[in-house]
Amino acid sequence: MGLFPPQLSETGVIWQAKKERLVSSNPLYAALDLGSTKIVAVVGHALEDNLFEIVGFGVAPTGTALRNGTIIGVPQAVAAINRAVDQAQRVAGRPVRNVVVGFAGGEVVGLDQRVTIALRDREVQPSDIEKVLQEARSMVNRPSSEILHVIPKTYTIDDLPNIPDPVGMVGARLEAHVHVIRGSEMVIANLKRTVERSGLLLRDGDLILQPLGAARALLTEDDKELGVAVVDIGGGTTNMAVYVNGSIAAIRVFPFGGINMTKDLAIVLQVSQEEAERIKIEALTKLVSPPDPEKEAGTESSRSPSVEQSSRVMEVVEARLAEILGIVARDIREMKLENRLQRGVVLTGGVVSMPQIIPFAQKILNPLHVTVGTVRPRIQGLVERAVSPEFSGAIGLLYYARDSWGEEVQEETEGVPGKPPEAKKETAASSRLWNWIREII
Ligand SMILES: Nc1ncnc2c1ncn2[C@@H]1O[C@H](COP(=O)(O)OP(=O)(O)OP(=O)(O)O)[C@@H](O)[C@H]1O
Ligand SMILES: [Mg+2]
Repeated sequence: MGLFPPQLSETGVIWQAKKERLVSSNPLYAALDLGSTKIVAVVGHALEDNLFEIVGFGVAPTGTALRNGTIIGVPQAVAAINRAVDQAQRVAGRPVRNVVVGFAGGEVVGLDQRVTIALRDREVQPSDIEKVLQEARSMVNRPSSEILHVIPKTYTIDDLPNIPDPVGMVGARLEAHVHVIRGSEMVIANLKRTVERSGLLLRDGDLILQPLGAARALLTEDDKELGVAVVDIGGGTTNMAVYVNGSIAAIRVFPFGGINMTKDLAIVLQVSQEEAERIKIEALTKLVSPPDPEKEAGTESSRSPSVEQSSRVMEVVEARLAEILGIVARDIREMKLENRLQRGVVLTGGVVSMPQIIPFAQKILNPLHVTVGTVRPRIQGLVERAVSPEFSGAIGLLYYARDSWGEEVQEETEGVPGKPPEAKKETAASSRLWNWIREII
């Protein structure tokens, strides 16, 4: 396919002229986070030193499109994706076509596997690595599931353990230690379908389980080496990725989050969920930065929460948070990883913006050390919005895009080489492209 779908070819001249002006020399990547409360589209240039310059950002409420991280309404999801992507590409000044997509939902299971092959004293070849990873994949796969990630941890050659890259070494036997993550085939098929219906291109391997995205944005290699759990408390899910000795030890997706807090509040206050969400955010924000009484005098609206109401909201929210963190703490204990997480727990996700989160979480997660993660050291550009904990997962996805696409990046509307988009996908893409062109001319 050419740069433009046929019906747009006459605008090609305009596009070419604008393109010269807009295309930066740094590779550009795009990611989409399908959250239970909001869809986030983010566009960024990969810079040196593992940094990203965020040049496009778009957020749209998920509404009824997802429940606990799983798509339950395709047209609603497509509409929200298009809104988020439209915003992001308008800000970025160029259209988005290829995306890496993050999600968290649908009976996700992560399992450690060991696979051994005979070498008979020859050198380990890259094809041996492929073979062991393929073998691990087939050991974990099930009829109604799909493999999302096959993550090599370490290798052992004969009796020599903890080899990060065995290619070129000789021995009698190669053993691979692999973490394989599988999800529901139906849930993943609906995700892929929705993204394609939105006119976007999602390559194989570019669907990322969201706790891995958050980990990528927030953890250093040192954190992983010393042992750490990143816990993303979102709207419909609480996700966790645990790292020990430099590699992934476990991933979890629990179907609870801020939405449960809102529901509890709706019951206690006898109001709708929409109203409860508004009251919750307003009350908690007020507790984080109490209003200046002089400025507020005479201006406070009757809808604004009183101090008593804020404390009541806090009580309800904390009760649910205690339950969620209790589940996380118990899980870490049951995995017997409690003493192996020297860097403790790094919290992220929308809920961690609430007041007093660290001391509160610290009480429940004791003796694990608790911090709130930040993407600030890793981003430039549209930083103010993007640093909020609710966006760390989306930022992390850009790293996956960079690793997966390499230098062969967001080539405007051309899509993925060797994968011509189907006609029906062009409809949404073309209309978004049109919107974008209208914006820039
Ligand atoms: N200041 C705050 N205090 C408490 N909760 C907050 C605050 N700001 C946002 N939230 C809550 O955070 C939740 C949204 O978090 P986030 O944006 O990380 O979720 P999501 O990515 O849409 O969902 P998920 O990851 O679970 O699929 C909402 O329930 C919202 O009410
Ligand atoms: Mg999320």
